[in-house]
Amino acid sequence: MDFDLSGYLSTKRLAVDNTLDEILNGFEKDQRLITAMRYSLMAGGKRLRPILCIAAAEAVGGKEPEVIYTACALEMIHTYSLIHDDLPAMDNDDLRRGKPTCHIAFDEATAILAGDALLTLAFEVLAQPSYQIKNIADRDYLSVIHKISRAAGCQGMIAGQIRDIQSEGVAINLEELEAMHQAKTGALIEASVLAGGILGGARVEEMDGLAQYARNLGLAFQVTDDILNVEGDPRILGKAVGTDHYRQKSTYPALLGIEESKKRAKKAVENALKAIDFFDIRSEPLRQLARYVLRRKQ
Ligand code: IPE
Ligand code: IPE
Ligand code: MG
Ligand code: MG
Repeated sequence: MDFDLSGYLSTKRLAVDNTLDEILNGFEKDQRLITAMRYSLMAGGKRLRPILCIAAAEAVGGKEPEVIYTACALEMIHTYSLIHDDLPAMDNDDLRRGKPTCHIAFDEATAILAGDALLTLAFEVLAQPSYQIKNIADRDYLSVIHKISRAAGCQGMIAGQIRDIQSEGVAINLEELEAMHQAKTGALIEASVLAGGILGGARVEEMDGLAQYARNLGLAFQVTDDILNVEGDPRILGKAVGTDHYRQKSTYPALLGIEESKKRAKKAVENALKAIDFFDIRSEPLRQLARYVLRRKQ
């Protein structure tokens, strides 16, 4: 029988949502900060990074329960990055995941703090002994925390975010644009896949394959995000379109045009698939996820 990606995505989304809910339920409910964190975290994201983490673990023989808290921590970091990305001082967006952005629904100070708190909570969750599985070595957890913190910080996502802001209205070349995409979006996607691989017990050559897969997928994902900002439907996307052009962002469509951007995204997905072609049938979700990145409308 053919693999059912939409069934896989909804099952994994549910597992991620239930675990995020369980973690948040451990906090005092009516506090404004927690309400704001919950608002953005549970607003209906695709959960791509946690699902990639789970799928990578499964591809090398791991199981969902072994990585679910790590997967949720990745989603917290991602959601924090979106809250801050939408702030007036950054992209100044009013709509995210089909709802008013955190600073619109609450206020700027609360949104900044909700982002800070989600980022910090992610590392608390990653290092929480009761969330760790006995047969996974401490050094593997440490390696995961190292990879994720590096990807989220000044050598990864934040480096990419500042380049994105500094490149508004500035002509940059394709090499610089690709490096910016790798940093602002690719790094966390790569860390998600590698974290799944490490905790799933990947062999060295499998880790190399996963790294290549993730690098290419991360690039394809951000190029598609840029394309959707030009020709996507805001009701499906849950965020405004046309904003990159308005803010003179450096994007693939701005530099290469839509058709060439689509070709580049397709090529990157082909390279991602090639990188894991020696994996067995358990990698089918990873393969399908790569194809999904190209045709997504949300
Ligand atoms: C949007 O990420 C921001 C980028 C890094 C391109 P997603 O498209 O994964 O957003 P959600 O989580 O589904 O809202
Ligand atoms: C978001 O990039 C990247 C991060 C939040 C790290 P964009 O600014 O291009 O993404 P959207 O279009 O707002 O989701
Ligand atoms: Mg941005
Ligand atoms: Mg933005």
